Amino acid sequence: GEGPGQEEDRRGEPFVGAAGALLGKIIGAMNLTREAVYICNVVKCRPPGNRNPEPAEMATCLPFLKAQLRVLQPTVICTLGACATHALLETDAPISRLRGRFHDCGDRLWSPNRDCLVMPTFHPAYLLRHPEAKRAVWEDMQKIMRKLGLS
Ligand code: URA
Repeated sequence: GEGPGQEEDRRGEPFVGAAGALLGKIIGAMNLTREAVYICNVVKCRPPGNRNPEPAEMATCLPFLKAQLRVLQPTVICTLGACATHALLETDAPISRLRGRFHDCGDRLWSPNRDCLVMPTFHPAYLLRHPEAKRAVWEDMQKIMRKLGLS
């Protein structure tokens, strides 16, 4: 995700507020549990007033995210929303153009000679405001499920 909101900052855990509850439902619908996936954010502290993280803040936190990914060695990453997608894919194309297909980015992120696929999708906070986008997200999740042999 992007970065901790107020509730996440208070509890020191990512996605434990309203968007996190929806994310938990999505994960459950994929026949997974929150414990079976690793949830993390691009920026590690809540930007004041819940504003979007600034490029310098993202650049400061990115080495920590990359260190997490080096330890995790994920085969599939689902980026939630534009911030996470832009940070990992190093592009500023609109999320609506990037979502719905796998992007290859293993080398750049954490390890040469290892594949890592990134599936961008809409952020759950966006889905709370735009429930009509849930269908597209579910299509994206089904692609991940097929890739992981979950369906
Ligand atoms: N939104 C995010 O991007 N991350 C969180 O941890 C919570 C809400």
